[in-house]
Amino acid sequence: MQFDKLPANPRAIAVSRRAEGIANRLVRRLDRTKDRFGLRGRKGLYDDSSYEFVGGAGELLRTRHYDKSLRLLWKAETHAPWLGFKDASKEERQLLGMAEKAMTADEKAAVERMGLPEFRAMLDREYTVREKQAIVNVLTAIGHGEAYAWLVSAELLGQVKSTGARTALTMQVLEEAKHFVVLRSLMRAFDVPIPRQSAWEYLLLEGVLKMDGLEKLFGMNVLVEGIALSFFGLLADAPGLEILQMFHLDEARHAALPSNYFTEFPMSEWEKRNPAKRLQRLKLVLPALGLMPHLEPDLAELGIDAYEFGGSVVNKISALAYRNGFYLPMPRWALLLALDAVFNGWCAVTRDEHSWKDFTGFDSTKNEILRSVERTVFFGAA
Ligand SMILES: [Fe+2]
Ligand SMILES: [Fe+2]
Repeated sequence: MQFDKLPANPRAIAVSRRAEGIANRLVRRLDRTKDRFGLRGRKGLYDDSSYEFVGGAGELLRTRHYDKSLRLLWKAETHAPWLGFKDASKEERQLLGMAEKAMTADEKAAVERMGLPEFRAMLDREYTVREKQAIVNVLTAIGHGEAYAWLVSAELLGQVKSTGARTALTMQVLEEAKHFVVLRSLMRAFDVPIPRQSAWEYLLLEGVLKMDGLEKLFGMNVLVEGIALSFFGLLADAPGLEILQMFHLDEARHAALPSNYFTEFPMSEWEKRNPAKRLQRLKLVLPALGLMPHLEPDLAELGIDAYEFGGSVVNKISALAYRNGFYLPMPRWALLLALDAVFNGWCAVTRDEHSWKDFTGFDSTKNEILRSVERTVFFGAA
């Protein structure tokens, strides 16, 4: 490459360099002094001398979350074309076209015919109005959670250390935005009234958003994502809901984020065991338990025992929480025992016939592939 060089005044360059050097020392020293006295110094947690965010590279988080998210990035247009999203690239649309060429004439006609009206007709064939309402009631609980997951991950993005962790959170923000708008379109396609947040969801999600710093990782990535993962695992094989398998893949990655983050930036023993924090975590779990009686009639309509599902969720989430060092005021075995006693006591009072059940021993996810994903995420199984 041939450049036409221009003359530059060496004296002017020297003066400008020196002025910049003085300004640089002054501005940084001033911000360091402000930091020392608790005033607002440098706001950007960015380390320009090493071209990284404060906390370093965080390669593990980058490869396990950012790179993996991009590898597994899915588009609503290719997985549920009837929802009307136009998010697929030209190449993805071409691939879809090639897949269609390999289909039989009947399969091809079925795919081509599947616009929104046909999708709605399929739902009407598969479900009664009450069943559609039950699915919407259960899944909008998660849909409202997706709005908060979007809000919380955007806040966490500003609070985590290292370049890798920020890439991971950036992908989570993107994925939560997609989950929110895609799940909302899917729910609207069911053509039944969409419920507001229940008081339990409101308390839980507002509580998570108001948590301090990295405690949000407990509230969101462990508790809320753990519940969402279980709901997606429960319903992803139902007709018209197959796209939830893609949500399940993303949420599994989000639920695994705290353990990958703490591998690089471990919590101190005090942060894990601080009695005030343990109590705060328990306070957050309690409204989540209120979801069980609230959703019981809708889950029952779909042939699902709310307490078997709840027991399964509690077992999985508590394993993930304690593995990450997010302890509650009691040991995990005592929590499971206490909840089994409460669930059985409640069922003995509210059901005509009830004999003792090991609710926390259930696994509500029946799909083998999703089950093995969950075993790795919740229990750390290889
Ligand atoms: Fe999500
Ligand atoms: Fe998520």
